[in-house]
Amino acid sequence: MTDSRYPIAVLVSGSGSNLQAIIDAAEKPGYAAEIVVVISDRPDVKALDRAATAGIPAEVVDWSDHESRDQFSLAICDIADRHKAQALILAGFMRVLAPVAIDRFTNRIINIHPALLPSFPGANAVRESLAHGITITGVTVHFVDEQVDHGPIIYQEPVPVLADDDEGTLHARIREVEHRVYPRVVDALSCGELVVEGRRVVWEGQ
Ligand code: GRF
Repeated sequence: MTDSRYPIAVLVSGSGSNLQAIIDAAEKPGYAAEIVVVISDRPDVKALDRAATAGIPAEVVDWSDHESRDQFSLAICDIADRHKAQALILAGFMRVLAPVAIDRFTNRIINIHPALLPSFPGANAVRESLAHGITITGVTVHFVDEQVDHGPIIYQEPVPVLADDDEGTLHARIREVEHRVYPRVVDALSCGELVVEGRRVVWEGQ
């Protein structure tokens, strides 16, 4: 029997708890995606241990080995192609992919962000949200375009900020939501249910 699941590459830079959530989901019967490769821009991160434990091939693409963002991004695309991945799932990946990668995987790159975009884009979203004094933050999953944390929004869910939250406690509660949400969005993408219409994303069948 052939495996008809949708092959995905998961891109990571750190702890990989969202990667783990997708690994766990993909072990369940009926899940539409299969992780065919994990790609990290850093060696020695926990995400790579998680891939190894799950028996998933993993490769490191070191930023400093490449002369430009284009070359770095194309190296990642080449690895994804070699493993026959159809989509790039960014899960705590801390580099910005060049437009050449966006063009190669049009509407097939998604990212998860720990804030309600377009508020608080960038690498320090949780810290900046707290510093700003907002009382509701959340999770955004979006398609990746040429701008940072900017592409069409697929799904958002609010998370309340508590009076005694610090960056660690708030990010931990945001991650809990991420771990429930991201595998579901990956499944929907893999089933072909997400249709991009300009800035809007339609979930077909809902
Ligand atoms: C997550 O909060 C995600 O939203 C952000 O980076 C964090 C990655 O966490 N882009 P992990 O590596 O999945 O644990």
